[in-house]
Amino acid sequence: MNNSVSGFSKFSKAEKISWIANQYFSNPEQAVSLLTNYWNKDVKLQQLHDDFIENTITNFYLPLGIAPNFLINEKFYTIPMAIEESSVVAAAANAAKFWSTRGGFKTTIIGTEKIGQVHFIFKGEKEKLQSFFEEKKHHFFTETEAITRNMQKRGGGILNLELRDKTAEIEGYFQLHATFETKDSMGANFINSCLEQFAKTLKSEAFSYKLFSEEEKNMTVVMSILSNYVPNCLVRAEVSCPVEELADKTIANPQEFAEKFVTAVNIAEVETYRAVTHNKGIMNGIDAVVLATGNDFRAIEAGIHAYAAKGGKYSSLSHAKIENGIFSFWMEIPLALGTVGGLTSLHPLVKFNLQMLENPSAKELMQIVAAAGLAQNFAALRSLTTNGIQEGHMKMHLGNIINQLQANETERILILDHFREKAVTHAAVVEYVGHLRKAKI
Ligand code: MEV
Repeated sequence: MNNSVSGFSKFSKAEKISWIANQYFSNPEQAVSLLTNYWNKDVKLQQLHDDFIENTITNFYLPLGIAPNFLINEKFYTIPMAIEESSVVAAAANAAKFWSTRGGFKTTIIGTEKIGQVHFIFKGEKEKLQSFFEEKKHHFFTETEAITRNMQKRGGGILNLELRDKTAEIEGYFQLHATFETKDSMGANFINSCLEQFAKTLKSEAFSYKLFSEEEKNMTVVMSILSNYVPNCLVRAEVSCPVEELADKTIANPQEFAEKFVTAVNIAEVETYRAVTHNKGIMNGIDAVVLATGNDFRAIEAGIHAYAAKGGKYSSLSHAKIENGIFSFWMEIPLALGTVGGLTSLHPLVKFNLQMLENPSAKELMQIVAAAGLAQNFAALRSLTTNGIQEGHMKMHLGNIINQLQANETERILILDHFREKAVTHAAVVEYVGHLRKAKI
Protein backbone atom coordinates (compact mmCIF):
# COMPACT_ATOMS: atom_id res chain seq x y z
CA MET A 1 0.00 0.00 0.00
CA ASN A 2 1.22 3.51 -0.77
CA ASN A 3 1.22 5.36 2.53
CA SER A 4 2.51 8.67 1.20
CA VAL A 5 0.19 11.64 1.07
CA SER A 6 0.45 15.12 -0.38
CA GLY A 7 -1.24 18.23 1.01
CA PHE A 8 -1.98 16.52 4.34
CA SER A 9 -1.62 19.78 6.27
CA LYS A 10 -4.36 21.32 4.11
CA PHE A 11 -6.85 18.55 4.97
CA SER A 12 -9.53 19.40 7.52
CA LYS A 13 -9.25 17.60 10.86
CA ALA A 14 -12.00 15.18 9.78
CA GLU A 15 -10.20 14.49 6.49
CA LYS A 16 -6.92 13.82 8.30
CA ILE A 17 -8.61 11.37 10.63
CA SER A 18 -10.43 9.70 7.80
CA TRP A 19 -7.23 9.32 5.76
CA ILE A 20 -5.41 7.70 8.73
CA ALA A 21 -8.34 5.47 9.67
CA ASN A 22 -8.73 4.15 6.12
CA GLN A 23 -5.02 3.86 5.48
CA TYR A 24 -3.96 1.96 8.58
CA PHE A 25 -6.96 0.29 10.20
CA SER A 26 -9.03 -2.70 9.15
CA ASN A 27 -11.94 -1.23 11.11
CA PRO A 28 -11.83 2.51 10.26
CA GLU A 29 -15.01 3.31 12.23
CA GLN A 30 -13.44 1.94 15.39
CA ALA A 31 -10.25 3.95 14.81
CA VAL A 32 -12.24 7.16 14.29
CA SER A 33 -14.30 6.50 17.36
CA LEU A 34 -11.17 5.99 19.50
CA LEU A 35 -9.77 9.32 18.37
CA THR A 36 -13.01 11.22 18.81
CA ASN A 37 -13.56 9.71 22.28
CA TYR A 38 -10.47 11.58 23.36
CA TRP A 39 -11.84 14.93 22.16
CA ASN A 40 -13.01 17.33 24.77
CA LYS A 41 -16.76 17.93 24.67
CA ASP A 42 -16.09 21.64 25.20
CA VAL A 43 -15.54 22.66 21.58
CA LYS A 44 -13.62 25.83 22.44
CA LEU A 45 -11.27 23.96 24.78
CA GLN A 46 -10.68 21.34 22.10
CA GLN A 47 -9.94 24.04 19.52
CA LEU A 48 -7.41 25.58 21.91
CA HIS A 49 -5.55 22.27 22.15
CA ASP A 50 -5.85 21.63 18.42
CA ASP A 51 -4.14 24.94 17.82
CA PHE A 52 -1.09 24.24 20.00
CA ILE A 53 0.49 22.19 17.21
CA GLU A 54 -0.07 21.22 13.59
CA ASN A 55 -2.04 18.31 12.12
CA THR A 56 -3.78 17.68 15.46
CA ILE A 57 -6.14 14.72 15.38
CA THR A 58 -6.90 14.21 19.06
CA ASN A 59 -5.51 14.62 22.58
CA PHE A 60 -2.92 12.35 24.13
CA TYR A 61 -3.54 12.07 27.85
CA LEU A 62 -0.95 11.94 30.60
CA PRO A 63 -2.09 11.64 34.20
CA LEU A 64 -1.64 14.72 36.37
CA GLY A 65 -0.67 13.63 39.88
CA ILE A 66 -0.02 15.63 43.03
CA ALA A 67 2.89 15.43 45.46
CA PRO A 68 1.94 17.36 48.61
CA ASN A 69 3.98 18.34 51.66
CA PHE A 70 7.05 19.74 49.91
CA LEU A 71 8.69 21.98 52.49
CA ILE A 72 10.99 24.26 50.51
CA ASN A 73 12.72 27.13 52.30
CA GLU A 74 10.20 26.94 55.14
CA LYS A 75 7.15 27.10 52.83
CA PHE A 76 4.86 24.16 51.98
CA TYR A 77 4.11 23.45 48.32
CA THR A 78 1.69 21.07 46.65
CA ILE A 79 3.48 20.03 43.49
CA PRO A 80 1.77 19.01 40.22
CA MET A 81 3.40 16.23 38.20
CA ALA A 82 2.41 15.15 34.68
CA ILE A 83 3.93 11.72 34.09
CA GLU A 84 2.98 8.26 32.85
CA GLU A 85 5.32 6.19 35.04
CA SER A 86 3.76 4.53 38.08
CA SER A 87 5.46 5.08 41.45
CA VAL A 88 7.11 8.42 40.55
CA VAL A 89 4.45 10.60 42.22
CA ALA A 90 4.25 8.28 45.23
CA ALA A 91 8.05 8.40 45.56
CA ALA A 92 8.09 12.21 45.40
CA ALA A 93 5.30 12.45 47.96
CA ASN A 94 7.07 10.01 50.31
CA ALA A 95 10.39 11.82 50.06
CA ALA A 96 8.66 15.18 50.57
CA LYS A 97 6.93 13.90 53.71
CA PHE A 98 10.17 12.36 54.97
CA TRP A 99 12.13 15.61 54.63
CA SER A 100 9.28 17.81 55.86
CA THR A 101 10.05 16.63 59.39
CA ARG A 102 13.81 16.94 58.92
CA GLY A 103 14.17 20.59 57.95
CA GLY A 104 12.79 20.37 54.42
CA PHE A 105 14.53 21.36 51.19
CA LYS A 106 16.89 24.33 51.15
CA THR A 107 17.21 25.85 47.71
CA THR A 108 19.11 28.83 46.31
CA ILE A 109 19.37 30.49 42.93
CA ILE A 110 22.99 30.70 41.80
CA GLY A 111 22.32 32.50 38.51
CA THR A 112 19.68 33.22 35.88
CA GLU A 113 21.77 34.01 32.81
CA LYS A 114 20.57 32.70 29.42
CA ILE A 115 22.74 32.31 26.32
CA GLY A 116 22.37 32.71 22.57
CA GLN A 117 24.78 32.70 19.65
CA VAL A 118 25.13 33.90 16.09
CA HIS A 119 27.40 31.41 14.33
CA PHE A 120 29.22 32.83 11.32
CA ILE A 121 32.09 32.17 8.97
CA PHE A 122 34.61 34.93 8.33
CA LYS A 123 37.58 34.06 6.17
CA GLY A 124 39.68 37.16 6.61
CA GLU A 125 41.98 38.96 9.01
CA LYS A 126 41.00 38.20 12.60
CA GLU A 127 42.40 41.48 13.92
CA LYS A 128 40.24 43.44 11.51
CA LEU A 129 37.16 41.50 12.63
CA GLN A 130 38.00 42.23 16.27
CA SER A 131 38.35 46.00 15.65
CA PHE A 132 35.17 45.97 13.55
CA PHE A 133 33.32 44.32 16.45
CA GLU A 134 34.64 46.78 19.07
CA GLU A 135 33.80 49.76 16.85
CA LYS A 136 30.32 48.57 15.92
CA LYS A 137 29.30 46.81 19.13
CA HIS A 138 26.89 49.58 20.25
CA HIS A 139 24.88 49.09 17.02
CA PHE A 140 23.95 45.58 18.14
CA PHE A 141 22.35 47.09 21.23
CA THR A 142 20.66 50.07 19.54
CA GLU A 143 19.27 47.99 16.67
CA THR A 144 17.63 45.55 19.08
CA GLU A 145 16.00 48.31 21.16
CA ALA A 146 12.54 47.69 19.72
CA ILE A 147 12.84 44.05 20.79
CA THR A 148 14.40 44.66 24.19
CA ARG A 149 12.26 47.63 25.35
CA ASN A 150 9.58 45.58 27.14
CA MET A 151 12.06 43.14 28.60
CA GLN A 152 14.12 46.05 29.93
CA LYS A 153 11.01 47.45 31.61
CA ARG A 154 10.72 44.12 33.42
CA GLY A 155 14.36 44.37 34.51
CA GLY A 156 15.80 42.07 31.85
CA GLY A 157 17.50 42.43 28.48
CA ILE A 158 20.83 41.75 26.84
CA LEU A 159 23.57 41.41 29.44
CA ASN A 160 26.64 41.10 27.27
CA LEU A 161 27.83 40.47 23.75
CA GLU A 162 31.21 38.99 22.84
CA LEU A 163 33.00 38.03 19.68
CA ARG A 164 34.39 34.50 20.07
CA ASP A 165 37.09 33.04 17.88
CA LYS A 166 36.38 29.36 17.18
CA THR A 167 38.78 29.04 14.25
CA ALA A 168 40.84 26.42 16.09
CA GLU A 169 37.84 24.11 15.68
CA ILE A 170 36.48 25.08 12.25
CA GLU A 171 38.22 27.28 9.69
CA GLY A 172 36.76 30.79 9.72
CA TYR A 173 34.25 29.99 12.49
CA PHE A 174 33.36 32.87 14.84
CA GLN A 175 30.47 33.54 17.13
CA LEU A 176 28.61 36.46 18.57
CA HIS A 177 28.06 35.00 22.01
CA ALA A 178 25.33 36.85 23.89
CA THR A 179 24.02 36.56 27.41
CA PHE A 180 20.52 37.57 28.51
CA GLU A 181 18.33 38.09 31.53
CA THR A 182 14.74 37.15 30.73
CA LYS A 183 13.14 37.49 34.20
CA ASP A 184 9.97 35.35 34.51
CA SER A 185 9.86 34.22 30.89
CA MET A 186 11.87 31.30 29.53
CA GLY A 187 12.86 33.83 26.89
CA ALA A 188 13.29 31.67 23.79
CA ASN A 189 11.37 34.02 21.49
CA PHE A 190 12.98 37.10 22.95
CA ILE A 191 16.50 35.66 22.64
CA ASN A 192 16.00 34.31 19.13
CA SER A 193 14.55 37.62 17.96
CA CYS A 194 17.54 39.51 19.39
CA LEU A 195 19.93 37.04 17.76
CA GLU A 196 18.31 37.32 14.34
CA GLN A 197 18.57 41.10 14.62
CA PHE A 198 22.25 40.75 15.65
CA ALA A 199 22.82 38.68 12.51
CA LYS A 200 21.21 41.35 10.32
CA THR A 201 23.25 44.09 12.02
CA LEU A 202 26.40 42.03 11.60
CA LYS A 203 25.79 41.60 7.86
CA SER A 204 24.79 45.20 7.21
CA GLU A 205 27.57 46.77 9.30
CA ALA A 206 30.15 44.47 7.72
CA PHE A 207 28.88 45.36 4.27
CA SER A 208 29.55 49.06 4.84
CA TYR A 209 32.80 48.64 6.78
CA LYS A 210 35.44 50.32 4.70
CA LEU A 211 38.41 48.36 6.08
CA PHE A 212 36.96 44.99 5.00
CA SER A 213 37.85 43.45 1.65
CA GLU A 214 34.97 42.27 -0.57
CA GLU A 215 35.36 38.71 0.79
CA GLU A 216 35.42 39.94 4.38
CA LYS A 217 32.27 41.99 3.81
CA ASN A 218 30.53 38.86 2.60
CA MET A 219 30.87 36.85 5.77
CA THR A 220 28.36 34.00 6.05
CA VAL A 221 25.89 33.88 8.91
CA VAL A 222 25.24 30.16 9.40
CA MET A 223 22.56 30.39 12.10
CA SER A 224 21.28 32.40 15.02
CA ILE A 225 19.81 30.47 17.93
CA LEU A 226 19.62 30.37 21.70
CA SER A 227 21.55 27.68 23.56
CA ASN A 228 19.71 25.24 25.78
CA TYR A 229 22.97 24.79 27.65
CA VAL A 230 22.68 27.35 30.44
CA PRO A 231 25.36 26.57 33.04
CA ASN A 232 24.88 30.01 34.62
CA CYS A 233 21.12 29.65 34.99
CA LEU A 234 21.63 27.50 38.01
CA VAL A 235 19.75 26.38 41.09
CA ARG A 236 20.95 24.41 44.09
CA ALA A 237 18.75 22.15 46.21
CA GLU A 238 19.85 20.44 49.39
CA VAL A 239 18.56 18.34 52.25
CA SER A 240 20.50 17.58 55.41
CA CYS A 241 20.01 16.30 58.94
CA PRO A 242 21.95 14.58 61.70
CA VAL A 243 22.51 10.94 60.65
CA GLU A 244 20.51 9.52 63.57
CA GLU A 245 17.45 11.54 62.45
CA LEU A 246 17.34 9.53 59.20
CA ALA A 247 15.80 6.66 61.19
CA ASP A 248 12.26 5.69 60.25
CA LYS A 249 10.25 2.54 59.62
CA THR A 250 12.42 1.38 56.69
CA ILE A 251 15.70 2.80 58.03
CA ALA A 252 16.46 0.87 61.19
CA ASN A 253 20.18 1.60 61.15
CA PRO A 254 20.64 5.22 59.99
CA GLN A 255 24.45 5.18 60.04
CA GLU A 256 24.57 2.12 57.80
CA PHE A 257 21.87 3.63 55.55
CA ALA A 258 23.67 6.98 55.24
CA GLU A 259 26.99 5.29 54.38
CA LYS A 260 25.41 3.03 51.77
CA PHE A 261 23.52 6.00 50.33
CA VAL A 262 26.71 8.08 50.01
CA THR A 263 28.46 5.12 48.35
CA ALA A 264 25.56 4.79 45.88
CA VAL A 265 25.97 8.47 44.97
CA ASN A 266 29.76 8.04 44.71
CA ILE A 267 29.20 5.18 42.26
CA ALA A 268 27.05 7.45 40.08
CA GLU A 269 29.82 10.06 40.25
CA VAL A 270 32.44 7.73 38.79
CA GLU A 271 30.47 5.24 36.70
CA THR A 272 28.68 6.53 33.61
CA TYR A 273 26.36 3.52 33.22
CA ARG A 274 25.05 4.18 36.71
CA ALA A 275 25.14 7.99 36.35
CA VAL A 276 22.71 7.93 33.43
CA THR A 277 20.12 5.89 35.37
CA HIS A 278 20.74 7.87 38.54
CA ASN A 279 20.13 11.13 36.65
CA LYS A 280 17.14 9.60 34.87
CA GLY A 281 15.60 9.18 38.31
CA ILE A 282 16.20 12.89 38.97
CA MET A 283 14.59 13.72 35.61
CA ASN A 284 11.49 11.70 36.62
CA GLY A 285 10.79 14.47 39.11
CA ILE A 286 12.04 17.36 37.02
CA ASP A 287 10.29 16.55 33.73
CA ALA A 288 6.98 15.86 35.45
CA VAL A 289 6.87 19.32 37.06
CA VAL A 290 8.34 21.04 34.02
CA LEU A 291 5.62 19.51 31.84
CA ALA A 292 2.84 20.28 34.32
CA THR A 293 3.90 23.92 34.40
CA GLY A 294 3.95 24.27 30.61
CA ASN A 295 7.72 24.39 30.20
CA ASP A 296 9.86 22.79 27.52
CA PHE A 297 11.12 19.52 28.99
CA ARG A 298 13.27 18.72 25.94
CA ALA A 299 15.25 21.92 26.47
CA ILE A 300 15.58 21.16 30.17
CA GLU A 301 16.68 17.56 29.49
CA ALA A 302 19.29 18.58 26.91
CA GLY A 303 20.71 21.31 29.15
CA ILE A 304 20.85 19.21 32.27
CA HIS A 305 22.55 16.25 30.60
CA ALA A 306 25.13 18.56 29.04
CA TYR A 307 25.74 19.96 32.53
CA ALA A 308 26.15 16.42 33.86
CA ALA A 309 29.01 16.01 31.40
CA LYS A 310 30.64 19.41 32.01
CA GLY A 311 33.76 17.82 33.52
CA GLY A 312 34.38 15.92 30.27
CA LYS A 313 32.72 12.75 31.57
CA TYR A 314 29.02 12.14 32.16
CA SER A 315 28.50 12.01 35.90
CA SER A 316 25.99 12.23 38.74
CA LEU A 317 24.10 15.50 39.10
CA SER A 318 23.70 14.95 42.82
CA HIS A 319 26.24 14.55 45.60
CA ALA A 320 26.15 13.33 49.19
CA LYS A 321 28.38 13.30 52.25
CA ILE A 322 28.47 12.60 55.95
CA GLU A 323 30.44 15.19 57.86
CA ASN A 324 30.52 15.63 61.63
CA GLY A 325 27.55 13.33 61.98
CA ILE A 326 25.47 15.32 59.47
CA PHE A 327 24.11 13.67 56.32
CA SER A 328 23.85 16.10 53.36
CA PHE A 329 22.51 15.42 49.90
CA TRP A 330 22.45 18.10 47.23
CA MET A 331 22.62 19.00 43.57
CA GLU A 332 23.08 22.00 41.32
CA ILE A 333 21.29 21.96 38.01
CA PRO A 334 20.72 24.42 35.17
CA LEU A 335 17.02 25.20 34.66
CA ALA A 336 15.79 27.80 32.17
CA LEU A 337 12.12 28.00 33.12
CA GLY A 338 9.32 30.46 32.59
CA THR A 339 6.16 31.28 34.48
CA VAL A 340 4.90 33.82 31.94
CA GLY A 341 4.57 33.49 28.17
CA GLY A 342 4.44 30.29 26.14
CA LEU A 343 1.81 27.79 27.28
CA THR A 344 1.62 29.29 30.78
CA SER A 345 -1.31 31.56 30.03
CA LEU A 346 -2.87 29.34 27.33
CA HIS A 347 -3.19 25.83 28.73
CA PRO A 348 -5.94 25.81 31.39
CA LEU A 349 -4.28 23.04 33.39
CA VAL A 350 -0.93 24.80 33.32
CA LYS A 351 -2.65 27.91 34.71
CA PHE A 352 -4.31 25.72 37.34
CA ASN A 353 -0.98 24.14 38.29
CA LEU A 354 0.79 27.47 38.53
CA GLN A 355 -2.01 28.77 40.73
CA MET A 356 -1.66 25.70 42.95
CA LEU A 357 2.01 26.65 43.26
CA GLU A 358 0.80 30.15 44.21
CA ASN A 359 1.91 31.70 40.92
CA PRO A 360 5.67 31.40 41.41
CA SER A 361 8.27 33.60 39.76
CA ALA A 362 10.63 31.77 37.38
CA LYS A 363 13.23 31.73 40.17
CA GLU A 364 10.77 30.18 42.60
CA LEU A 365 9.74 27.58 40.03
CA MET A 366 13.43 26.69 39.48
CA GLN A 367 13.66 25.95 43.20
CA ILE A 368 10.46 23.89 43.26
CA VAL A 369 11.56 21.83 40.25
CA ALA A 370 15.02 21.26 41.71
CA ALA A 371 13.48 20.09 45.00
CA ALA A 372 11.22 17.68 43.09
CA GLY A 373 14.27 16.28 41.27
CA LEU A 374 16.27 15.84 44.46
CA ALA A 375 13.28 14.26 46.24
CA GLN A 376 12.92 11.77 43.40
CA ASN A 377 16.60 10.92 43.53
CA PHE A 378 16.44 10.47 47.31
CA ALA A 379 13.41 8.18 47.01
CA ALA A 380 15.06 6.06 44.30
CA LEU A 381 18.35 5.71 46.19
CA ARG A 382 16.56 4.99 49.43
CA SER A 383 14.66 2.11 47.77
CA LEU A 384 17.68 0.87 45.85
CA THR A 385 19.91 0.75 48.91
CA THR A 386 17.28 -0.83 51.17
CA ASN A 387 14.48 -3.05 49.78
CA GLY A 388 15.18 -2.61 46.06
CA ILE A 389 12.83 -0.70 43.78
CA GLN A 390 10.78 -3.59 42.43
CA GLU A 391 8.71 -4.15 45.54
CA GLY A 392 7.29 -0.62 45.63
CA HIS A 393 7.26 -0.22 41.87
CA MET A 394 5.32 -3.41 41.23
CA LYS A 395 2.79 -2.52 43.95
CA MET A 396 2.16 0.77 42.13
CA HIS A 397 2.15 -1.01 38.77
CA LEU A 398 -0.46 -3.53 39.95
CA GLY A 399 -3.27 -1.22 38.78
CA ASN A 400 -1.85 -1.25 35.24
CA ILE A 401 -1.66 -5.07 35.23
CA ILE A 402 -5.25 -5.27 36.48
CA ASN A 403 -6.34 -2.99 33.63
CA GLN A 404 -4.34 -4.99 31.09
CA LEU A 405 -6.13 -8.17 32.22
CA GLN A 406 -9.48 -6.37 31.98
CA ALA A 407 -10.43 -7.41 35.47
CA ASN A 408 -13.97 -6.61 36.61
CA GLU A 409 -14.66 -4.72 39.85
CA THR A 410 -14.98 -7.88 42.00
CA GLU A 411 -11.76 -9.28 40.57
CA ARG A 412 -10.00 -5.94 41.13
CA ILE A 413 -10.89 -5.92 44.83
CA LEU A 414 -9.80 -9.54 45.27
CA ILE A 415 -6.52 -8.99 43.43
CA LEU A 416 -5.64 -5.88 45.46
CA ASP A 417 -6.45 -7.74 48.64
CA HIS A 418 -4.49 -10.85 47.61
CA PHE A 419 -1.34 -8.86 46.74
CA ARG A 420 -1.44 -6.53 49.76
CA GLU A 421 1.24 -8.58 51.51
CA LYS A 422 2.59 -10.62 48.57
CA ALA A 423 5.27 -9.80 45.98
CA VAL A 424 3.68 -8.52 42.76
CA THR A 425 4.94 -9.98 39.49
CA HIS A 426 3.12 -9.96 36.17
CA ALA A 427 3.10 -13.77 36.12
CA ALA A 428 1.76 -14.02 39.69
CA VAL A 429 -1.13 -11.68 38.88
CA VAL A 430 -1.96 -13.56 35.66
CA GLU A 431 -1.93 -16.83 37.59
CA TYR A 432 -4.14 -15.47 40.34
CA VAL A 433 -6.65 -13.99 37.87
CA GLY A 434 -6.68 -17.33 36.03
CA HIS A 435 -7.50 -19.01 39.31
CA LEU A 436 -10.31 -16.52 40.05
CA ARG A 437 -11.80 -16.95 36.61
CA LYS A 438 -11.63 -20.72 36.76
CA ALA A 439 -13.35 -20.62 40.11
CA LYS A 440 -15.87 -18.16 38.48
CA ILE A 441 -15.44 -15.61 41.23
C1 MEV B 1 13.20 4.56 37.34
O1 MEV B 1 12.33 5.35 36.57
C2 MEV B 1 14.27 5.43 37.97
C3 MEV B 1 15.35 4.69 38.75
O2 MEV B 1 15.95 3.69 37.92
C4 MEV B 1 16.37 5.71 39.16
C5 MEV B 1 17.62 5.13 39.79
O3 MEV B 1 18.00 3.99 39.47
O4 MEV B 1 18.24 5.86 40.58
C6 MEV B 1 14.77 3.96 39.94
